[in-house]
Amino acid sequence: MKITKAVIPAAGFGTRFLPATKAVPKEMLPIVDKPTIQYIVEEAIDSGITDLLIITSRGKDAIVNHFDKAAELEAVLERDGKTELLKLARGVTDKINVYFTRQAEQKGLGHAVFCAKSFAGNEPFAVMLGDDVVVNDEKPCLKQLTDEFERLGSSVIGVQRVGRENVNKYGILDCEPIGDRLYKMRGMTEKPSIDKAPSDIAALGRYVLTPAIFDCLEKTEKGALGEIQLTDAIVNLMETEAVYAYDFEGMRYDIGSKQGFLAATVDFALKREDLRGEFIEFLKKTVNKEK
Ligand code: G1P
Repeated sequence: MKITKAVIPAAGFGTRFLPATKAVPKEMLPIVDKPTIQYIVEEAIDSGITDLLIITSRGKDAIVNHFDKAAELEAVLERDGKTELLKLARGVTDKINVYFTRQAEQKGLGHAVFCAKSFAGNEPFAVMLGDDVVVNDEKPCLKQLTDEFERLGSSVIGVQRVGRENVNKYGILDCEPIGDRLYKMRGMTEKPSIDKAPSDIAALGRYVLTPAIFDCLEKTEKGALGEIQLTDAIVNLMETEAVYAYDFEGMRYDIGSKQGFLAATVDFALKREDLRGEFIEFLKKTVNKEK
């Protein structure tokens, strides 16, 4: 079955980026000149997603505005013949259907995903987390996972190794390798301590799930950090269905951390023909000054 629906939870407070996120949703912070959430939405489009639900909360209206048509701005740019800018202003609005719902209370990622129950209906769907930006110019991360889902007919979670020192930041898998880049899952623990981590294989913000996850989410109690965790619902799902993990190919940036955000900013600027030359000169001078 083709995966055409995706969910992006975007209801969190973004406290790691205060004071920037006091009035601006963290999903709207730009990497170079594009809001971070637009990179995720473009990955969804390039992976064949046609319908997208963004889970927002109070204070996130800028996200809703960003994916709306800016009719007045477009009219001015059209009148002035500014075709390139017009393309940028239009963005992705005519390439995907974007829907919104609000998570009234922040009870955790599992609770946010549960808000997508009627959107998903009886179909499998993707979950894409905004803190994980993945670059693969040949095959988008989500497409790698949806292809695996179509082959296996069971839920697939996107993973990569993160090193033992980082296991306490992620959902960590207990799994056995069964093929090229593919694992069968046995268990999963949300943000374990280094000594309790079953491996260093981490869920990195991309999931393709069967709708059975909603029954599991409904039964899931508060877990790590006092929140309803998607990780715990996936563990429940394993009792009734096989769940797989796929070690996706691509450079992944943890833009929920300041270092990751800076790394993405530098790398993305270096990829831009219009910025690259001057920016390299600037970086060389700055790095030499620091020596
Ligand atoms: C969430 C998930 C975690 C996953 C991580 C990937 O955690 O709960 O299992 O490994 O995203 O970025 P968060 O970063 O929201 O704390």
